[in-house]
Order: sequence, then C-alpha cells, then structure tokens
Amino acid sequence: MIFDNVSLSSEQFLADYWQKKPLLIRQALPGFTPELDSNDIAGLACDELSESRLITGSFPKHDWQLRYGPFSDADFSKLPESNWTLLVQDVEKHYPPLRSLMQEFSFLPRWRIDDLMVSVAGPGGSVGPHVDQYDVFLIQAEGHRRWEIAEDYETELLPDCELNVLRRFSAEQDWLLEPGDILYLPPGVAHHGVAQDDCMTWSIGMRAPSRAELILALGEWLSEKEDHGGRYGDPDLSIARRIGEVEGITLDRIGELLRSPGLGDEEFTSFLGAFLSRYRLAHDPAPPASRLKPAVLLKALGRGQVLRHNPWTRMLWIETEENARVFAAGSEFPCSVEFAETLCDPDRLCQWDPGGAKTEIGLLCDLVNRGHLYLEQL
Ligand code: SIN
Ligand code: CO
Repeated sequence: MIFDNVSLSSEQFLADYWQKKPLLIRQALPGFTPELDSNDIAGLACDELSESRLITGSFPKHDWQLRYGPFSDADFSKLPESNWTLLVQDVEKHYPPLRSLMQEFSFLPRWRIDDLMVSVAGPGGSVGPHVDQYDVFLIQAEGHRRWEIAEDYETELLPDCELNVLRRFSAEQDWLLEPGDILYLPPGVAHHGVAQDDCMTWSIGMRAPSRAELILALGEWLSEKEDHGGRYGDPDLSIARRIGEVEGITLDRIGELLRSPGLGDEEFTSFLGAFLSRYRLAHDPAPPASRLKPAVLLKALGRGQVLRHNPWTRMLWIETEENARVFAAGSEFPCSVEFAETLCDPDRLCQWDPGGAKTEIGLLCDLVNRGHLYLEQL
C-alpha cells in the first residue's frame, strides 16, 4: 500500500484527504523503478489500439497544440527540444504485469479506479493549468516535475482551445516531485505540472459516474426491456380546461414515473453491475480463438498454469440475498460470495485449488471462453 512507508494509514487518508484536500506523499514508493521507460510508452503510442495525445505549448504563452495518436517514429523525431508531453491512457491494460502497481491502491474499491495514464515529457512539458473531475494520484516515475496547485481559482477556460486549459492561474502551493513521490489531488483542484527535465509521470485516475451518465445508461437499459420501466398513464384524468396547457398534475405524474423507474432490487443490481463493469471501458475483451473445455482447464491448472484477468475486463461483484453476482464487462454470472471474491482477486485466483468444484470450473471456462480470463504459464 502506498502508505506503508509514511506515517499515515489508509484509514486516515480516507478520513482526512480523500475527496477533501490535496496531499503530497514524499517517497510513497521509495526506489520506484518504472517497469516501462519512455521508449516503451512511445511504442505504445504508435499502437492503433492505444489512446494517446501529444501536446506542445506552455503557460502563460498559451501556444497549445494537441494531436491524437496513433503516432509514428517520424512524429517523435520531429519533436522540439522542450515543451512537449506525450500522454497514453490505459497503460496497465496494455501491460498486465502492472497489476502489482495497481494493487498498491487496493484500499480503494476496484471499480473506482479508471486507468493508469503515463505522461512522458521534455523539459518545460505541461498540459497547461487545468481542473479534473476525478481524483488522481500523480506518481513521479522519472525525472522531476514541479506541481503548482490552487483550490481557489478563476474558472474561465482559454477560448478556442481543444485542451481545457485555465486562462489564468496563480499557484497557492507548489512542490518539486522526485521519483517515488506521489501527489494526491481530489476533483476540482486546479493544477499545473511542469517537467523540469526528461520526466515521466504515472497518473492513477479515478472514475465516478455523473447522474446524467447513470440516467442515460438506465434509459438505454430500460428501453431494451419489454415493459420499458412503465409508461405515462392518467386514469384520473379530468376535463382539459385551458387549451395547450400541460397541467401541474401531469408534471407530478411524469415526475413520479422518472423518480421511480419501476426497478426492483434484483433488476437494479443487474443494471448497476452491468453499467459499472463496462463504464469507461475503451475496448471489449476479445474471446479466444478456440473454446476451452472444463477437462482441459482442469488439466492446465494441474500442470501449474494460472488464470489471469483480461485487463480489458472490469470484474466486480455485488452481494445479493441468496448469493453473489459477478459482473464482467457488462455480463452477469451468479456464484457464491466466497468464489466471487476469489474471481476478482488476482492473487486468490492464481492460488485457487479446483478440487472437485464442478460449478466453479464451469463458470471459469465460460469466463475464459468469453475472453474475460486467460491461462498463463507461471
Ligand atoms: C501530466 O501527467 O502531465 C498531467 C496529468 C494531470 O494533470 O492530470
Ligand atoms: Co490533471
């Protein structure tokens, strides 16, 4: 856990800082040696499947330019000496061994973690002063970055600019981060990070659905159901008195229809599990080339192979009255609470002993055949 080396517990962090105020954690990851270097990140930015951006410019000059990847070697050879930043999203999904770094954040519910974004920058590189809607842990991976923050700031954005850069910004606090330091920022704090040398920052970003996103998703989910979650009705209708008017009582009836979309607990669980296990997922997991049979899975596990999560699958579970439901990238599977926990925990899944667990083997096979899990030789 990132607090193991500092005099702060995860409980204290959640109580005093999480979603409340910024925190600089010096040497949270002492001796941090990134498993990927800037060349690896540049390579990833050339991959069609990756989501990458190249930003040049500086503050307060506001000479910003933004380009989206995939990039080519030629793009990188044309980079200026300074004031550039390359950003790649979902790096932990492209490079599954980074699951051990993600485990450092296991004091947070897994579903809240969005991705690991890596930024590689030359001296002066920055994405401009801005405000994010999500909590973020900024890990200094290589080189040095000066972070300036402000909790009280002018919200005006730079007009006609694709980047959400603040037009004006003056720092209230600033820190120079070294490798191994982490800066935690809650949503809504303006920040500006400027690379001081060849610099790499790894950002663990959170996700939090907005009410609008939830309502939109619920609407789609209901529209696929037969009863569409109810319909407007007015058996108590009285004579229309004023032409063209939508009466107050109609507003009440529609308000009621919207406020209680007719979802029982079971259905709400299904909706939410499916929504959260797909939310902000850039790619659907691809099924394997050939189907796996239970006997073959058992043999493979017996030979020392282990089951791994497809990093593009979000797996989570919700306890129900009788058992649990596991959700994987939008699909739902019933199982016991104990097995749900095993399924979602990479360490427990690796060490799971099949014994005579027929139902569980069937479920595991199904998950492999849908591309949510895969076999790996240790
Ligand atoms: C960066 O790593 O350069 C930007 C990250 C952020 O500001 O959220
Ligand atoms: Co930011």
